[in-house]
Amino acid sequence: MSSWKGIILAGGSGTRLAPLTTAISKQLLPVYDKPMIYYPLSTLLQIGIREVAIITTPDQQPLFKKLLSDGSQLGCHFEFFSQEKPAGLAEAFLITEEFIKGSPTCLILGDNIFYGNGLVDLAKEAMSSPAGATVFGYRVNDPERYGVVEFDKENRAVSIEEKPELPKSSYAIPGLYFYDEKVIQIAKSLTPSKRGELEITDVNKIYLAEGNLKVKVIERGVAWLDAGTFKSLLQAGSFIHAVQERQGLMVGSPEETAWTNKFINDEQLKKLAEPHNKNAYGRYLLNLVGKKDATH
Ligand code: TTP
Repeated sequence: MSSWKGIILAGGSGTRLAPLTTAISKQLLPVYDKPMIYYPLSTLLQIGIREVAIITTPDQQPLFKKLLSDGSQLGCHFEFFSQEKPAGLAEAFLITEEFIKGSPTCLILGDNIFYGNGLVDLAKEAMSSPAGATVFGYRVNDPERYGVVEFDKENRAVSIEEKPELPKSSYAIPGLYFYDEKVIQIAKSLTPSKRGELEITDVNKIYLAEGNLKVKVIERGVAWLDAGTFKSLLQAGSFIHAVQERQGLMVGSPEETAWTNKFINDEQLKKLAEPHNKNAYGRYLLNLVGKKDATH
């Protein structure tokens, strides 16, 4: 089987964040010191995915291209796709069909932020047995806002419901999903839900009904944040700030991740960092390659 491809879904309407999102995409807004999309992009790079489709709204695509280029600067390959209207998460597989065809695919939502090595291990485990699909379960206080997975006594998933009024468990499904190449056909078989969207929950339900859905519970040491409301956007920024201040390590830097994973070498990292050598971001990257005397 060919290697894993990634999709970042960075379209949507961002209505809950208006007026912040009236002129600019949610996924370009800052989460502390980086644009939001850096975090899911770094997650993909962290788990070894270098070929990434980035789905945006048509009007904002030039801004995403300006930010991320074609990925070659990170030893990766990015392709940009437009979603005309926010017709649902599962439309991602139809929009990127030519790009993902024949490969297993990891879909990540552009406003989801993950932190913690436990997640990387779980993701790599999922990627090592790509047949079927893998999603995660994460305990939250407000499961009714998400797709919710119910388990039986043996910890097997028995049901999945989208935004249920009365959730059958406290386990939400975060916006990081792994599918084999059958996902395209499954997405083609869907009909829009009552809210007019092709639902990712319906894709997961089909895998579940066929006995091909693996659900792994994310341990408590991993943070999963979505930055789609005023409060969660602020909380995500505060969280990243707190972790970075305490550890002196960056969270969600695609440049650092590409370098750590040896997609790029010291020279390439320096080239990316030099234009920012007057700020903390650039200096941090330069320090990684031992250039502590960066000019200020
Ligand atoms: P949501 O947060 O569910 O939707 P939204 O971003 O449009 O925000 P709001 O509810 O405030 O209007 O979307 C989750 C992620 O998926 C987010 O990164 C946007 C993206 N998305 C798409 O790219 N296309 C879509 O059709 C939908 C529904 C979401």
